Amino acid sequence: MCGIVGYIGTKPVKQILIDGLRELEYRGYDSAGIAVLQNHQFSLFKAVGKLINLEEKSQKFESTGFSVGIGHTRWATHGKPTELNAHPHIGSASSVVHNGIIENYQELKNMLTSKGVQFLSQTDTEVIVHLFEYHLKTANTPFEAFTKTVGELDGAYAVLLINAQVDDTIFFAKHGSPMILGRNHENETFFGSSDAALIGKCHEVIYLEDGHYGVATKDSITLYDGQNNPVNLQFTPLSENKLSAQKEGFRFFMEKEIYEQGTVLADTLMGRLRDETVYFEELDPTLFDGINEIKLCACGTSYHAAMVATYLFERHARIRTSVEIASEFRYREPLLAPDTLFVVISQSGETADTLESLKMAKKAGLKTLVICNVDNSSMVRLADASILTRAGIEKGVASTKAFATQVTVLWMLSLTLASERKILQANEIAHQIKLLRTLPSVVAVDNGIHEQLRRLSKRYLHGHGFFFIGRDVFFPLALEGALKLKEISYLHAEGYPSGEMKHGPIALADPELFTIALLPQHKLYDKTKSNVEELSARDSTICSISPLDFDKADDHIRTHYHEDYMLEFFEMMVVLQLLSMEIAVRLGNDVDMPRNLAKSVTVE
Ligand code: M6R
Repeated sequence: MCGIVGYIGTKPVKQILIDGLRELEYRGYDSAGIAVLQNHQFSLFKAVGKLINLEEKSQKFESTGFSVGIGHTRWATHGKPTELNAHPHIGSASSVVHNGIIENYQELKNMLTSKGVQFLSQTDTEVIVHLFEYHLKTANTPFEAFTKTVGELDGAYAVLLINAQVDDTIFFAKHGSPMILGRNHENETFFGSSDAALIGKCHEVIYLEDGHYGVATKDSITLYDGQNNPVNLQFTPLSENKLSAQKEGFRFFMEKEIYEQGTVLADTLMGRLRDETVYFEELDPTLFDGINEIKLCACGTSYHAAMVATYLFERHARIRTSVEIASEFRYREPLLAPDTLFVVISQSGETADTLESLKMAKKAGLKTLVICNVDNSSMVRLADASILTRAGIEKGVASTKAFATQVTVLWMLSLTLASERKILQANEIAHQIKLLRTLPSVVAVDNGIHEQLRRLSKRYLHGHGFFFIGRDVFFPLALEGALKLKEISYLHAEGYPSGEMKHGPIALADPELFTIALLPQHKLYDKTKSNVEELSARDSTICSISPLDFDKADDHIRTHYHEDYMLEFFEMMVVLQLLSMEIAVRLGNDVDMPRNLAKSVTVE
């Protein structure tokens, strides 16, 4: 995903910008650029591909003395990854970098084009710089023009803008995309879309809030809120230790990764949702031609995401779908039909069994698609097509945000297939898209629920085992909940379809058997409830997770009301992640690096 850096000071600006961008590289990008303003003159460099290309392009450029600069790594959303589409975008005497999406860009572009403005790129971002210059013609100051510009933008943005008239100044604005402002004892000012770019350079920072905008010069910083009221500058110290700073105040990477799922899912959705269609720019429209069946293949958490997809693909797109555990698939001499699309799912893109299965499918002549978090990984390079999940680096061995992004991509893909195959009507797809848009707020951690989980975790530290149970997509979620708990608490846990309990597992029921019951309001509520009652009647200790009261439960975690079962799925996912983490914390385990496990399993 895109990254932003900015600098005001006297050190060699090019290196500072490129070093900052390098710290953001992990987010993935396909082009990069910098603009430097010194003595009212601009120097602009852009390159497609990795930062090394940008370094080569700007090799001869050196600056001494005071300057301001902005830099960007771009992950293409509107328009292909080309040099013209790379940021910074320029007007006649201004330059801008932007993360997010300007939703009303077409409207603004039409207005500006009608006034004779020429656009060079296909991006939404370019409207910002032209709109600014348009307002500059009538404004009293460049800052007034910037304020007007920001007031007319709809959508999500983090913006830095520089203008040749004011060559000691960076204008900035934040709404829905992160932006951090930092300074140090050497009177330097920095900007970054993540504090990774600022660690070691600044001693204190302000995490800008939505609606914040302002102006930074070599002598001052002025900040306003969304109602145009001045905001007092309240800096917080920035840790110098990269590792603890990267945890951003959370106890563990896993906790941080659970909490950042809202931001991460906004990235996953970015540029992919239109009013009535889901759009994966990276997919060749012919990918689904001649396909009558889908086979998904993965390991661990990614396998659970694949299981969710079997429900969604068959339900939404009425296409035959099956799922395979990669380590089994590769040795069971499977029959593969040429009209099957083979889809592998992997956070790392390096898991040995999944990679080998992908090779087998390719060898058998199947079309292949990978859903992956790591660009340029072995699977991404090998598959015919790839969709990146955009989760950012996941450090906790227990996968959380990677799972959330995988399921989100698979849900979107089910809709792409549904419209390709003309199964769902446009209004039904539009409704699903409306639901998808709410995901970032659905996965935001509810502090009250987290506190409740922290307290009740003390009752779940012993016993002879856990059953996580659910139906439909809540069955793979139950498997995932059980896997999370096993991985970091080292307690025995199993996931089961709730209807299957009476076929054997219920024999284990007693007060020392803990049942974690997923009871969504909108998917088979009564059926699941009966199954949980059967366990309760046999004195199993029940912890129910539901928006509806359940009087047979020993503990009840009340989730919020949602209008659709998939939204209930995502909120329950967060509850299960937090529950496992709090149990592991109480047991004193290493949450981020549990015993015996590795983040990337490159051996079979
Ligand atoms: O990188 P992958 O998604 O291919 O990894 C697959 C599994 O190793 C992984 O999901 C594992 O199960 C996680 N530790 C689960 O938290």
